[in-house]
Amino acid sequence: MNRDRPSQALIRNLTFPQRPHVLLTLAILVFAGTPWSHAQSVNPLEGDVRAIRGGAGLFRAQCATCHGADAKGISSIEAPDLTQIWSRRSLSAAAVFETIRLGIPGSIMPPHSMTDTENWMLVAYLQSVAEAGVIGLPAGDPAAGRRAFVENCSTCHRAHGLGESLGPNLSIVTSQRSLESLIASVRDPDALVGRGYKLVHLRASEGEEITGLIKSEDAFSMQLQDDTGRLRSVNKANLQMIERLSGSLMPAFARTQLGDQRLLDIFNFLQNGAQQ
Ligand code: HEC
Ligand code: HEC
Repeated sequence: MNRDRPSQALIRNLTFPQRPHVLLTLAILVFAGTPWSHAQSVNPLEGDVRAIRGGAGLFRAQCATCHGADAKGISSIEAPDLTQIWSRRSLSAAAVFETIRLGIPGSIMPPHSMTDTENWMLVAYLQSVAEAGVIGLPAGDPAAGRRAFVENCSTCHRAHGLGESLGPNLSIVTSQRSLESLIASVRDPDALVGRGYKLVHLRASEGEEITGLIKSEDAFSMQLQDDTGRLRSVNKANLQMIERLSGSLMPAFARTQLGDQRLLDIFNFLQNGAQQ
């Protein structure tokens, strides 16, 4: 199946447009000469409308090919959704600044040599598109949601003291993700698989086959949770085969199986707990 592997050809063929110098120069002139350093932890340009606009231009030129025009990620090349790095990953502005500067070794995320000002403009743009949690969740019945959670979700998820932990804990997910993206996670989990939950199939040199979730990885090794739940570390040099699978372990729930109102009930349970 084609979608079982991130396409190397796609990655190789990605083209990187040149920076739109003219537009940027205008934006950068505004901030030129300010001695910001990357040692600081707060973005000096957070919330600055012109910086955000300039950052959006830089993003379109240098990042959108991989992270998508809306910064919501492109799953076929495993470029993450950058609207969720603040809430879901709790990254600080300084950490994002450093990631942009240094790239992520062992991945296609490249280092970028731009000025500190340009880098903070990008961070300001990413802060401006941060996805907030569900605000004003439509009403539902949390007690019915609790029952539906136990029936459909608790074999893999924990929330408010119930369930197992193969998948992420969902106790605070409604304060971290928008309603739209939560619904997408349930209706179409394969579309964007969370970090730490990417599936891989390996064959070790002794012939042993392992299927598991990649918890972390660098150029030489991989830390996996295998299908028995055991955590193990493998040395890439000792592998005969690495096959990365693109789907999620989570099954898609169609409307016929779990209706929209019942799903809202589940989200109400996740947000409020079941008062009983
Ligand atoms: C060639 C493709 C590519 C380009 C270009 C690219 N990225 Fe990335 N980026 C990735 C991939 C893939 C990852 C995930 C790497 C990993 O975790 O293994 C990533 C990760 C990140 C992360 C870390 C997210 C997290 O959850 O920790 C940030 C922040 C980020 N990119 C920002 C940017 C910005 C800003 C730009 C433009 C200046 C950019 N990237 C350009 C591919 C790219
Ligand atoms: C067979 C196991 C399994 C079942 C059953 C399951 N999930 Fe999941 N779920 C996962 C795994 C694994 C992930 C993480 C991988 C991913 O992002 O797709 C996940 C991710 C999610 C996420 C995204 C979490 C985050 O931190 O962003 C949500 C929301 C979610 N599941 C909701 C549900 C709900 C609601 C149900 C029941 C209707 C359910 N899941 C049933 C395994 C499962």
